Order: sequence, then structure tokens, then C-alpha cells
Amino acid sequence: MTTQYLFVAGSIALLVASSAIAADDAALLKEALKIFQPLPKDTSGPGATPAKEQVVLGRLLFFDPRITAEGDVSCATCHRPALYGTDGRPTSIGVKQRPHPRNAPTIFNAALYSVIHWRGDRNDLEDQAEQALTGAVSSGLDERDVTDRLQRIEGYGPLFAAAFPTDSHPMTVKNMANAIVAYERTLLTRAPFDAYLAGNVDALSPAARRGLETFINMGCVACHNGVSVGGDMYRKFGIVEDYWSATGSRSIDRGRVEVTKNLDDLYVFRVPSLRNVAMTAPYFHDGSVAMLADAVRVMGRVQLGMKLGDAEINEIVSFLNSLTGDFPTEFAAPPVLPPASVTTHQR
Ligand code: HEC
Ligand code: HEC
Repeated sequence: MTTQYLFVAGSIALLVASSAIAADDAALLKEALKIFQPLPKDTSGPGATPAKEQVVLGRLLFFDPRITAEGDVSCATCHRPALYGTDGRPTSIGVKQRPHPRNAPTIFNAALYSVIHWRGDRNDLEDQAEQALTGAVSSGLDERDVTDRLQRIEGYGPLFAAAFPTDSHPMTVKNMANAIVAYERTLLTRAPFDAYLAGNVDALSPAARRGLETFINMGCVACHNGVSVGGDMYRKFGIVEDYWSATGSRSIDRGRVEVTKNLDDLYVFRVPSLRNVAMTAPYFHDGSVAMLADAVRVMGRVQLGMKLGDAEINEIVSFLNSLTGDFPTEFAAPPVLPPASVTTHQR
């Protein structure tokens, strides 16, 4: 009798304890839902579903090195499958070993950002792709050379015709860019954090949930919020002290001021998305910090004037790990590219 009573009392105590945890969890989830949104199903606006043929073509172009200066660099040279769409270098190296001054971000989920590039110097993804296809570092060819090269790869003819059926001359840099962007729009990476936002509290480990709470309470969310946990605004890097005093950056990038010529934009950069951040080292616009834990420490120090403890940093990193999404299968391996000699017509 007594044992049974004790047993029941014990279960009630347990029940009470677990429902108390559940209440905390519910409050945290409710708070998180005010700040973040889960990944959408797709990124094409209503009625604008990209043609399948454009996605197929865009994927080929993304991986094709034959349309750059020496035939050895493609988009995938700096946005590599094995490195989650980055090149793993502090700053990129392009055609003819030309250095790029900044770090290559992943192209995953880029379709969700309202600000493109570290300094916001591109209007949208289409503009980004067009300029990358003819950029001095990423291509080394001008528009005419690019389309000349493309025309010599005969296998592309039917693919362009299928992707842009109403164009009489579809092989243009603009259409190349449109096709690449149609492909990029498919590269969304659903993460455990999305399952969490959909109501599955256990999709995040207890440590990750504590990290989320710290991330909210410390004020990281003032800048890193929304569907991309960033990607939507500009902020000064180094609000409390100069960023390079914490990152050890060797050269100092003046940031967005170079784009706008407005002195208010000195050392201002795009707040990057933190989706997949655990997979995209090294960190910051110049890749000056190698480890995620150190990047978090730098953020606490230069953006918020706080010295984060190791335990807090570890919890935040646990939370950031929950932003690593499923790897898109259509990006996993390079496709077989169209041949340059298709004998469908007589010369
Ligand atoms: C030489 C390496 C290199 C090549 C080649 C290259 N990129 Fe990039 N990419 C970068 C770097 C570096 C940045 C960041 C530039 C900046 O912010 O100033 C970038 C940025 C981007 C972004 C914006 C991401 C963001 O978070 O804002 C997209 C999208 C992108 N590249 C797509 C492409 C496409 C498409 C191609 C091929 C047509 C391409 N890239 C070729 C290095 C490269
Ligand atoms: C006032 C705005 C602001 C706040 C607050 C802020 N960040 Fe950032 N964060 C930025 C900006 C801007 C960058 C880009 C800096 C650069 O490289 O130029 C950045 C970059 C990062 C990066 C590197 C991402 C990458 O891909 O290289 C991480 C990680 C990060 N922040 C985490 C945090 C954490 C954790 C907190 C809270 C402790 C935080 N941030 C608070 C604005 C902010």
C-alpha cells in the first residue's frame, strides 16, 4: 500500500517536472516563432515556377568550366559541393590565379536573401549571376567571348531552345544567368531548426535549445533573424570596437562605403545568414577567423561588448549546428556536361 502510494506520488512529481519543462520549451518556441520563420517549400513566387528545363540547364552551366578564360574555372570551383557551396579558403582565387578580396559564401538558400554579396553590390541573384559570368576574377571573358564559347559546345543548343522556347536567339548571358538562378532557387536546405519551428521541440537537443535562448537573450537576433537567420540587413562590423582588433584581419576592408560612397557605410557589411554556418568556415567577409566558436566570441565582443563564457559559446554553437540543412541531391555531384561535338547537322 505504502509503496504503491509512493510510486503514484513519484509519478505525479515526475509528471509535474516534465510538464514544467514543457512549459519552458513552449515559451521558448513561442518566442522563437516571433523572430524566425521556417524555410519555405520553394522560392519561386506564385505563378513563377521556374521551368524544369531551366533548372536542368542552370545546373550544367554552374558546373561547366569551359566558359571561362582558361577553361578551368566554373561557379563550382568556388562554390564546391564537397564544401557545402563554398571554397573553404579565407578569400577566393579565380581565373589565372587572380585573387578575390573576399570570402565565398555558400549559394545554398541565397534565393531567400534580400541583400546579395558582403557589401550588397548586386541587385538580385540574376544580376549576381550575370556579373559572375563575365567578372574579371570569376570568368575573365566578356559577354561576346562567353556566348562564342557556349556556341562551340553544340550540346547546349537544344537545351537553350528547350529552356527558353519563345526566344529566337536564346544563347545569351542573360538567359545563362536566368537558368543558373532557376537552379539556385532549388538549393534550399531544410534543417533541424525548421522542424523545431514547425513544433517538434525535440528536433533541437537541450544544449541547442539553451543556445537558442542565449542567442535570443544576448541580442544576436537583433541582426540575425528571419527565415535566413540573417541575410536581410546591413550593419557595421565592429560596433563596440574595431573588427580587426578581434579578427586579426591583415587588410582592412572598408565595406559598403566603397559601394555607396556614403561615410555612414564605413565598415558596414551584410549581416550574413547563419544557415549552414557550421559547414562554411572560415568566417567573416575576409575569412579571417577559422573556427565557429571563435567567430561567436568575436561577435559577442565587437557587436555586443560582451565577453561570452566557454559554456555559453558551446551552447550557441550547438544551436548553430541545428541550422545545418539537408544537402541538396542535385548539387551533390557534378553532372555530365553537354558534348562539344554533336553531329546533328551537316557542316
Ligand atoms: C573565383 C571564385 C568564384 C567564382 C568562380 C564564382 N564565385 Fe560566386 N562568389 C565568390 C565570392 C568571393 C563571393 C562573395 C563576393 C562578395 O561578397 O563581394 C561570391 C558570391 C556569390 C553569391 C552570393 C552569395 C551571398 O551570400 O550573397 C552567389 C549567388 C554566387 N556567388 C554565385 C556564383 C555563380 C552563379 C557563379 C558562376 C557564374 C559564381 N558564383 C562564380 C566567389 C566565386
Ligand atoms: C549589430 C548586428 C549584429 C549582432 C548583434 C550580431 N551579429 Fe553576427 N554578424 C553581423 C555582421 C554584420 C556580420 C558580418 C561581418 C563581416 O564579416 O563583415 C556577422 C557575422 C557573423 C558570423 C560569421 C558568419 C559567416 O558566415 O562568416 C557569425 C557566426 C555570427 N555573426 C554570429 C553571431 C552571434 C552568435 C551573435 C550574438 C552573440 C551575433 N552574431 C550578433 C552582425 C551582427
